[in-house]
Amino acid sequence: MSGPIAPHGGTLVDRLDPDLTSSGGPSVTLSARQQADLDLIGVGAFSPLEGFMGSEAYESVVESMRLPNGLAWSIPITLGVSSDELAAAGTADRLELVDGDGRFLGVIEVEERYELDPTREAAKVFGTTDEAHPGVAGLYAHPTTAVAGPVRVAARMGLDDASEKHRLDPAASRARFDELGWKTVVGFQTRNPIHRAHEYITKVALESVDGLFIHPLVGETKSDDIPADVRMACYLALMEGYYPSDRVVLGVLPAAMRYAGPKEAILHAIMRQNYGCTHFIVGRDHAGVGDYYGTYDAQHIFDDVSRDELAIEPMKFEHSFWCKLTGSMATAKTSPAGPEDRVFLSGTKVREMLGNGEMPPEEFTRPEVAQILIDSYR
Ligand code: ADX
Repeated sequence: MSGPIAPHGGTLVDRLDPDLTSSGGPSVTLSARQQADLDLIGVGAFSPLEGFMGSEAYESVVESMRLPNGLAWSIPITLGVSSDELAAAGTADRLELVDGDGRFLGVIEVEERYELDPTREAAKVFGTTDEAHPGVAGLYAHPTTAVAGPVRVAARMGLDDASEKHRLDPAASRARFDELGWKTVVGFQTRNPIHRAHEYITKVALESVDGLFIHPLVGETKSDDIPADVRMACYLALMEGYYPSDRVVLGVLPAAMRYAGPKEAILHAIMRQNYGCTHFIVGRDHAGVGDYYGTYDAQHIFDDVSRDELAIEPMKFEHSFWCKLTGSMATAKTSPAGPEDRVFLSGTKVREMLGNGEMPPEEFTRPEVAQILIDSYR
């Protein structure tokens, strides 16, 4: 087995089948989120899942954050299908999976059809049933009858050119870490450009392990998040000037963001273990949105999961900031500064500055990154 750590559940799933072709049977049109989920199942990023979840797994994940076999799993991976497509499918036991343009992506062998419970799922997984929550809105937007069973993936989810260049599937990232001789690797999830706070926590983490896997999520995000291609340019600029090239690998995660805070932190960690990471960074309000989650809820949730249920080790970081007193990045654990001596900018403020062509302070973001963002706003 390649890689510094076993995949979740012990075996890296491979459901890719590039030679599979359409036979023109009944089809299901996948949403962006479903396409991403299919892709992640295909490459084994969702190991041990081999397909979309059935009712037993769905219940178990929603109610107890575990798969029926006891392994940690925090967010249901289900395939809701519209009533029109269900009617057209009849009792077919094999459905073709296509994207919005009708492109053939793969097939599902149908083992079960069942009803999802979106309100309960929202309450248990997202901690809210509020439709203003982007992840809950996304959940409610999907049909409520699910089709379950193993999949085979013929075509990969499309990515922008920059992300495509850095596609590194779990088998490939594992092989890469082995080549580099890394026994310990910390994974870093992000849906943002890497600002100084992100840079700081990744580097503090890198002090304790052999390598850093910068692993931006490049699937669907909310409309005011910065697009993946722009972020990729930021990551590359930063890696060139500010990280040791032999201790960092960049790869993309073709997953959709759900903004489920703590529950998504667990899913993010599971995926990174499948990509071969032994450690995973969880900072402030990981995968959060608005005020739905407490600042460190996504760290506390790891206390409810044993290493037998999830092997990857979380590395937890407090809110970090530039400290004016010490002239360095810091957190409340390492700096004497009160709030007045911390450089803090809200996301809204930064967007406003960049939109006006203004450089945010160097204490907040590296100038090379700020310039790329300013250019993209033009
Ligand atoms: S996330 O949705 O992917 O979590 P983001 O890209 O902002 O959003 O964060 C990436 C990682 O960095 C997460 O683990 C998050 O908790 C952490 N993080 C972001 N900003 C800070 C900060 N100022 N201090 C500490 N951790 C942070």
